[in-house]
Amino acid sequence: MRVLGLETSCDETGIAVYDSRDGLLAHALHSQVVMHQAYGGVVPELASRDHIARTLPLVQQTLHDAGCSLGDMDAIAYTRGPGLAGALLVGAGLATALAMAADKPLLGVHHLEGHLLSPLLSDPMLTFPFVALLVSGGHTMLLDVADLGRYRLLGETVDDAAGEAFDKSAKLLGLGYPGGPALARLAAFGNPEAFALPRPKLHSGNLDFSFAGLKTAVLTRVNQLGTNICEQSRADLAASTQEAITDVLCRKSMQALRQSGRGTLVVAGGVGANSRLREKLDAACRQVGARVCYPDLQWCTDNGPMIAYAACRRLQAGLAKASHSYAFDIRPRWDLAELAEVTAQDMA
Ligand code: KG4
Ligand code: ZN
Repeated sequence: MRVLGLETSCDETGIAVYDSRDGLLAHALHSQVVMHQAYGGVVPELASRDHIARTLPLVQQTLHDAGCSLGDMDAIAYTRGPGLAGALLVGAGLATALAMAADKPLLGVHHLEGHLLSPLLSDPMLTFPFVALLVSGGHTMLLDVADLGRYRLLGETVDDAAGEAFDKSAKLLGLGYPGGPALARLAAFGNPEAFALPRPKLHSGNLDFSFAGLKTAVLTRVNQLGTNICEQSRADLAASTQEAITDVLCRKSMQALRQSGRGTLVVAGGVGANSRLREKLDAACRQVGARVCYPDLQWCTDNGPMIAYAACRRLQAGLAKASHSYAFDIRPRWDLAELAEVTAQDMA
């Protein structure tokens, strides 16, 4: 089965052709980071306009690189949600037009399922079941993944996502957008124990997260240090912030493994690229004899292959039907639990 996938949910235009037998045939990515940098965050209207300009040329380039045409596809997939409404509409609209023109079936994919399955792109030997730590700019959740489409929420953030905590703290430290990678780079020069920052909900007993208080604590430290904050203090505060976020993520992930009885932890989403988080999870999993898997760094943040791949797996497993109706729609807000419910109905 061969699928063309389009990802346009936020600030990256990602396109890919994935073949269930031959693997990833080609992919292309355009990041809007430079464009949004001037505003310190994603400007939704600019994101949509840029997707309009980039998506079709990238589709053409990807098909060319894959050595195939639209006619060779078994389905065309796009990110249906969650994400920015305007940005989603661009991918959905173009995917629908392409599917209609080539008389191909169309499938809308859940962005988080794309992230969730992205470690399988690099490690085809990875098998279900596992616990997934999904940590992106908009989401922080622990899931029990019994099988493809069988996802049970174990815990999630009650306020900010881990990526948001990185981004907002980075902003307070005067770092650019996107804040996560910038804060991680600065943290490399700092002392993670220099500032005692809170580890919210660490001992709550459940698997929920909360990061809003941490951001406030960082703000308080920044205000205390004042405008003449020296480079070393900035690096120390960055390192202490990263340490607090990754401590909570690591401890709760290990708790989720214990509670669920699963032997494998899968980490997905942009924050999964954080090397301190990886170090901690590697050590903690080694200690209890659990396996930990990450996507390739290039598949941690938004990308086309994860969408083409998720569509391919769903179609192959008979968990979704690609449609010829071309009545495309988007779901800017879309709970992953709803997807699991739909899957359960499809399987019944
Ligand atoms: O998964 P993603 O690309 O987009 C969403 O679906 O949200 O995640 C983006 C998030 C941003 O908050 C970004 O700052 C964070 O992932 N991020 C990182 C790193 N790389 C990306 N956070 C910490 N360390 C990193 N190396
Ligand atoms: Zn994402």
